[in-house]
Amino acid sequence: MSQALRDARRYEEIHETMIQKESRPAFHLSARVGWLNDPNGFSWYQGRYHLFYQYHPFDSHWGPMHWGHAVSDDLLHWTYLPAAMAPDKPFDRDGCFSGSAMTLPDGRHLLMYTGVAREVTESGEVREVQTQNLAFGDGTDYVKYELNPVITGLNGELPEGGSRYAFRDPKIWMAPDGGYRALIANDMRGQGGQMLLYKSADLYHWERVTALAENHNRIGFMWECPDFFELDGKYVLLGSSQDMLPKGLEYHNGNGTFYFIGDYDSKNEKFIEESDHSIDYGIDFYAPQTLLTPDGRRVMIGWMQNWDTCNLHTKSTPWFGMMSIPRELHVRNGILYQTPIRELERMRRDEIIYENETVDNCEIALPGVAGRLVDLEVEVAPADPEKSFDRFAIRFAKNELFHTTVSFRPHESTLKIDRKFSGSRRAITHQRRCRVQHDNGKLKLRLILDRFSGEIFVNDGEKVMSVTVFTDLNAEGIAFFADGKVKINVKKYNLSPD
Ligand code: FRU
Repeated sequence: MSQALRDARRYEEIHETMIQKESRPAFHLSARVGWLNDPNGFSWYQGRYHLFYQYHPFDSHWGPMHWGHAVSDDLLHWTYLPAAMAPDKPFDRDGCFSGSAMTLPDGRHLLMYTGVAREVTESGEVREVQTQNLAFGDGTDYVKYELNPVITGLNGELPEGGSRYAFRDPKIWMAPDGGYRALIANDMRGQGGQMLLYKSADLYHWERVTALAENHNRIGFMWECPDFFELDGKYVLLGSSQDMLPKGLEYHNGNGTFYFIGDYDSKNEKFIEESDHSIDYGIDFYAPQTLLTPDGRRVMIGWMQNWDTCNLHTKSTPWFGMMSIPRELHVRNGILYQTPIRELERMRRDEIIYENETVDNCEIALPGVAGRLVDLEVEVAPADPEKSFDRFAIRFAKNELFHTTVSFRPHESTLKIDRKFSGSRRAITHQRRCRVQHDNGKLKLRLILDRFSGEIFVNDGEKVMSVTVFTDLNAEGIAFFADGKVKINVKKYNLSPD
């Protein structure tokens, strides 16, 4: 083991003891210490789930990337394992960037990731060369392949115009023919991102097959973190885009995630794209990865943060960065539906139900409905089916000073999240809106609160809005507001990881 990895492991072991359990999310994975971004190597290996992450243990801000590591039986209770990789080889000395994992036929756990190494060009410019690398392990310790990199981006490995300096985040899987495939993000001169498909028979020799998707400057510039899978008879390609330009209510996040739904011509390895959408309409969601659970569910987890808003904390913050709730995915009517993994229901306690409560041009609280570790289901409808209402809102993480609001305007068919009063002292955009389907003002919402975040699932997962809220934990009120007359059904559970 290198000194760099030994240092990281010693540092995290000592410093994690200084972080109180209650000052982290209860069931969303957060950085063991320091900084966390993308989920990496999300996989099932030797009877449990493994989740690695982009990690800078020594600081709560981004820096030379390591891979942090945690394991879980249910994707909600996480146990940290020692950091899996440090930037300690010539091919990754400036960072072990994102990548994926799989179980090899011989039982080893494989990590495929991007190594970053700075290079000074003839004109004196410093560029970061990005190559694809392998590491093999037993679920705790990983050894980097000595002949890394396995894909350099040289010798025709990139198409004409493809950049060696923006070539990253391999997602590897085994194809039905027993060979390996890897989808890798790349920047194409003048066109923005493309997702390049590679194939290999032995993991060590790779050949470029095709571009499964090309940006042509439609959605932002560079693309990152691809994923690709079959689901419910369709194919889904996930990507995260930098520098997006908003279009209507789509793509407002600067850096944000998208999905394409389409078909796949496996003979010619061509993806036939049918539609593109945002994955999450909140403020904080990026770089998701999926896995297939042993019982066949496609589950996605993302970084619940956004590059545009993630550097506002101070150096002394002991941890920064957390994952989203793992979400089960389905394709229905050309839309990717997301629901919190069903294992969450085992954490539900203290059921409280209200039926046909009226909220009539006022704000009400319902006895027992409060907390920051909460699963809340709300069905909204106009009290008088003939007469719609102007606005309905749920305010959470609330006290006299603070609240975060989800509000529904049936006349506009929009849902808005607003965390202006969540405790942030920064003058940045704290709102997002999305279009929602409703039947004359009838809408279904589910809110998952885990201390420092809220994830709002609309109409059984048709749309999702995720936000982090670093609000004082004493602000635990939940209130319902109506401009007009609204009837609500409410089901509320406390969520307990114990
Ligand atoms: C996405 C990303 C990846 C890269 C990693 C670096 O958030 O920019 O493309 O591998 O983060 O930490």
